[in-house]
Amino acid sequence: MTRVLVAYGSRRGSTAEIAGWIGDTLRGEGLETEVADAGSVRDVTAYDAVVLGGALYAGHWHKDARRFARRHAAALSGRPVWLFSSGPLDRSADEAEIPPVPQAARAAEALRALGHRTFGGRLARDAKGFIAARIAERAGGDYRDPDGVRAWARQVAERVAATQGTEV
Ligand SMILES: Cc1cc2nc3c(=O)[nH]c(=O)nc-3n(C[C@H](O)[C@H](O)[C@H](O)COP(=O)(O)O)c2cc1C
Repeated sequence: MTRVLVAYGSRRGSTAEIAGWIGDTLRGEGLETEVADAGSVRDVTAYDAVVLGGALYAGHWHKDARRFARRHAAALSGRPVWLFSSGPLDRSADEAEIPPVPQAARAAEALRALGHRTFGGRLARDAKGFIAARIAERAGGDYRDPDGVRAWARQVAERVAATQGTEV
């Protein structure tokens, strides 16, 4: 059976939840899927494909996602990888394709990723932390689109099935 890992870097939990939606969708499409914090993954050799996502903070891709990409690039060579980012606290991610920030673009290159998608983010209106609270005042809310995430995950599932038995 094809095994897929969905790994995420998340500070406040919303990217982890997106990873969970992706995992549920892939399972629904018949793929054996594990969802894990990117920082906790030691070995990726058991997986046929990987989806790696990171939250965006001040233009940076979450460090656990960056480290995952560096640490596992060699092991993932020849296996299909997709990336996602989550961040925008508005509807921009639903309106147009948002290109990866430079760190995610570098990870895409290192992993020869087959695709990258930016999803809207979530910030609680009562978020703690000086800067977060200031941002939350004007832009707090949940801008994630679960159906859009699931639709993207179904495309990934189709392409995982299509790449099995081939080197990508
Ligand atoms: C201090 C701070 C900085 C942020 N910077 C960005 C950013 O540069 N780009 C972006 O798209 N979203 C940015 N966001 C929004 C977060 O990416 C969004 O809240 C995301 O859903 C957080 O994911 P997490 O809950 O997994 O940590 C920022 C949020 C905070 C609190």
